Amino acid sequence: MTAGFTPPEPQAVAALKDIAGSGGWRDGADMARYFEDPRGRFTGQATLVLRPDTVETVSKIVCYCSAHKIGIIPYSGGTGVVAGQLSPDTPNAVIVSLDRMNKIREVSVEDGVLVAEAGCILQNIHARAAQENMIFPLSMASKGSCCIGGNLATNAGGIQVLRHGNARDLCLGVEAVLPDGSILNELSPLRKNNTGYDLRHLLIGSEGTLGIITAASLILKPLDPESVTVFCAIRDHSDGVSLYKELRADLGESLSAFELMSGFGVDLVRRHFPKFPAPFAQRHDWHLLLQLDGPKGMPAQVEEVMGRMLEKNLLSDAVIAQSATQSEDLWALRENTPEANRMEGAFCSSDTSVPIRKISDFVKETSAALRDIHAGLRVNTYGHIGDGNIHHNVFAPEGTSKADFLRAHPDMVDAVRMAINEVTHKSGGSISAEHGIGRLKAADLEIYASTAKQTALRAIKDALDPHNIMNPGALLR
Ligand code: LAC
Ligand code: ZN
Repeated sequence: MTAGFTPPEPQAVAALKDIAGSGGWRDGADMARYFEDPRGRFTGQATLVLRPDTVETVSKIVCYCSAHKIGIIPYSGGTGVVAGQLSPDTPNAVIVSLDRMNKIREVSVEDGVLVAEAGCILQNIHARAAQENMIFPLSMASKGSCCIGGNLATNAGGIQVLRHGNARDLCLGVEAVLPDGSILNELSPLRKNNTGYDLRHLLIGSEGTLGIITAASLILKPLDPESVTVFCAIRDHSDGVSLYKELRADLGESLSAFELMSGFGVDLVRRHFPKFPAPFAQRHDWHLLLQLDGPKGMPAQVEEVMGRMLEKNLLSDAVIAQSATQSEDLWALRENTPEANRMEGAFCSSDTSVPIRKISDFVKETSAALRDIHAGLRVNTYGHIGDGNIHHNVFAPEGTSKADFLRAHPDMVDAVRMAINEVTHKSGGSISAEHGIGRLKAADLEIYASTAKQTALRAIKDALDPHNIMNPGALLR
């Protein structure tokens, strides 16, 4: 745990500043932005922020920290929501921020590969791929500020996982600095490489606990000629799952995103962002937002299939975006959902997954469990149907402030989180689908991971990071 570290000595701080060079570090009040939590629940701390601009400098910093047993918190875009990049309990560690390692080193259309440094903002990678008529299909609401290093460290998911997979599925290799300071260079664009343990996949999703990813070879895919956005009104989530099954059968791989949105969630976004138009004249309790990308002729096929779904009574209504602007406005309702939840005062934002066939029962059972805790709780249930990944954002009753409510019910946050965890576990699901464990869920992992898994995780951690300097307190307490 970070709590076990003593404050780095002044000469260590001076030596680390020296290694990072001028412009390569921040201290005092200049560190404030690295302590911010996107959901405002934690405040980070650190002795020093280091901002190396080459992998060699990262290596020197890690070597020094390893020799002097100084804890390191790797820092990417700062958008993580499980406090993996924040040390709220102690300032006795240094942050290593990759924000100056933000170059795209290489693009090869033949190999379908783009080599990006860890501090590249995801949207900049999208833009560079577009110049080659290609896409890098990892995408999420925070794409304008999250960075690829953190996306990989947390094995981020997002809105196109059902077609293209998680961050893990879109990475051919990584360059990383291991806890002893050695540089692992596995950036080659090979698609076949069976030469022992796949260290890339060990580092991806390790949340900075086994090393610092400094660059990655990312998979580019061809841009599909046609793209269609559909916003649907549905009776309930069970029709959402039925539609998913039907559309997968009819439209197959073209289905890139299949998002569930509640009527309450759309109301929240429109309350906090009134500039986005309502999708329908009438209010509906449940919606789906679909993205389809495919060959020429696909839009006509989508129209035909949606007509059939209306006839089958699986849809109450549907709008097919007629322009890029209309598509952006419909997507804005989805992409601003996390921000609207924050602005409304969500005190729990779950990220669990269950098998797709169990989604509907999961939603019913979690809703009942939350009602049992407190009948007035407001819940925004939304997420990625194709990944079995439903988020519940939970709010104080209408008319009660979050602060007053939590003061009156001090156990509420834990009770809500554990109620959702319990239904998830009982449904054969996972307590972290796409956000990771960080510091927020490290105790929950101890409850829900098997002994065999926890023993193996600790053995790997001890073997690679015997002094526990890499992101101490995250993932494993
Ligand atoms: C989303 C994030 C919170 O799906 O995972 O909006
Ligand atoms: Zn999500």
